[in-house]
Amino acid sequence: MVSRMPKQKSPPILAANWKMNGDIQSIKRLLDGLRNDLFDEEIKPGQVVVFPPHVYLQMVAKNIGNTNILLGGQDADERESGSVTGGVSAKMLRDVGCDYVLLGHSERRILFSEDNDGIFQKLKQASNVGLKAIVCVGENLEQRKAGQVLEVISSQLKALISQDTSSQPEELLIAYEPVWAIGSNKSATIEQIGYALAEIRKILRDIDTDFYESTKILYGGSVTEKNIGEILAIDVVDGALIGGASLDSKSFSKIWRIAKTI
Ligand code: 13P
Repeated sequence: MVSRMPKQKSPPILAANWKMNGDIQSIKRLLDGLRNDLFDEEIKPGQVVVFPPHVYLQMVAKNIGNTNILLGGQDADERESGSVTGGVSAKMLRDVGCDYVLLGHSERRILFSEDNDGIFQKLKQASNVGLKAIVCVGENLEQRKAGQVLEVISSQLKALISQDTSSQPEELLIAYEPVWAIGSNKSATIEQIGYALAEIRKILRDIDTDFYESTKILYGGSVTEKNIGEILAIDVVDGALIGGASLDSKSFSKIWRIAKTI
């Protein structure tokens, strides 16, 4: 049985994945809204991380510069630099002020045919330039129905997480995002989240207890102001990766206000 009682743990992390949404005007409006509702809050560095589309990173970096909100890229290339038309390297993300990078999101795995090997290379690039990485894992509906949740998560994690911890980023976060829960208004249940995150913790411990003990594990998939409280109250959850609800400053600020009481 998964505990629903709030317990003493580090302040939750809220990661806002804006995906391929917005334009200069709407992102300015979103930032203005966040400035009104969120920027004065006592946010510890790394507690709120925003992931805008690459082309708007510098604009957002400037805007959040005097806050503790940190910046991340939604992806980085697996190569260091060179003839990769359209590519954005981990070093470039660092150059424009990113502290984080999101890797292995299911939308990238599906739409861009990313596989575990490529994601592992990206993780190495991120690590080389000092980016913290949030790596996404999670099963699709077919796999869930076939009872393969554990198998899928375990193989994704083991392929991405090296036994050689010297090649891992100084800070690695795992986001459990069941594909069927993304953008569906149908978040995983408390029991499903608790089970998957506890299993992820076990797998990490089996690989290297000392190194992965402090790894933060987030949940993502239809997180809103309505369910954030009960999700963050699960004892194994360290934070949330939020898509749709992070595009509205009011919703995201409400989520923050609930999260800070946990
Ligand atoms: P939604 O919050 O819109 O379901 O998206 C989740 C997600 O994919 C975050 O990376």
